[in-house]
Amino acid sequence: MRVALVTGGTRGIGAATSIALKNAGYNVAANFYGDEKRAFDFRESAGIPVFRWDVSNYQSCVEGIARVEAELGPIEVLVNNAGITRDAMFHKVTPQQWSDVINTNLNGLFNMTHPVWNGMRDRGFGRVVNISSINGQKGQAGQVNYSAAKAGDLGFTKALALEGANKNITVNAICPGYIATEMVMAIPENVLHERILPLIPVGRLGSPAEIARAVVFLASDEAGFITGATFSINGGQYLA
Ligand code: CAA
Ligand code: NAP
Repeated sequence: MRVALVTGGTRGIGAATSIALKNAGYNVAANFYGDEKRAFDFRESAGIPVFRWDVSNYQSCVEGIARVEAELGPIEVLVNNAGITRDAMFHKVTPQQWSDVINTNLNGLFNMTHPVWNGMRDRGFGRVVNISSINGQKGQAGQVNYSAAKAGDLGFTKALALEGANKNITVNAICPGYIATEMVMAIPENVLHERILPLIPVGRLGSPAEIARAVVFLASDEAGFITGATFSINGGQYLA
């Protein structure tokens, strides 16, 4: 049974991904950071072990990954899903809002992937799936920090894919559009209804399960020829 680790794996897109991977036969670990109650509820309902650490802190990632590997075995599938928003128009963004988003959404990929990379190289197998965003592809007013981090995730994906290719390690990115999770529900209602929903040709928000399905596909042994790719899943909102 292959071992998969999903960061931010206890709610939203991450929770759907943890469950979908479990249903596909993986031995799954779900990381979380702030919301312990939700994580423990998720552990009970999904039957998936949860592990707390901060993906924006390298040493915490090294220690957290060691705990997961001691319990479940070497990580073969890593889903870098944890992410945050600190939305504000650029003239109002604080240095803290800038660095919080860069440290979690971009540096988090380095902090999580670097400690598992040598093991994947040694074993000659690995799957890394990075959850970027439509707004890393097209940019979004009010999200200069987030768009910069998510665009950075795409450069990370492409460069690392080239390094992993001859070791049977694939590195891919998914760019979800607007998905019905708490992250999107935090957008002011008038902004969501007047400025965002009308731009989605499919006419609705996506569901977390619609992203999870693509993660399971990319994680599979059969997806070994797909690497460095960017998968847009956005209801037709942006055709890259
Ligand atoms: N495009 C261009 N200009 C915009 C704009 C837009 N989408 N939205 C607002 N503006 C302009 C307004 O017209 C206004 O202009 P003036 O100052 O000239 O009048 C100015 O920006 C300020 O607008 P607000 O009064 O709305 O400003 P605010 O400070 O109250 O709120 C905001 C700004 C927090 C960015 C708010 O507009 C917002 O939340 N927007 C949504 C941003 C967004 O899409 N976030 C995605 C979150 S979900 C996610 O991140 C997941 C994912 O990957 C898709
Ligand atoms: P969400 O519902 O807000 O959940 C975010 C998850 O990330 C939570 O599990 C949270 O843990 C975890 N997390 C945040 N900071 C962390 C940290 N420092 N260390 C460890 N875990 C951390 O978000 P979502 O909508 O499911 O988004 C998941 C990913 O998809 C994010 O990367 C987001 O940018 C991306 N995305 C979302 C959308 C969308 O429309 N929803 C679109 C495109 C891309 P706690 O539960 O402990 O707080």
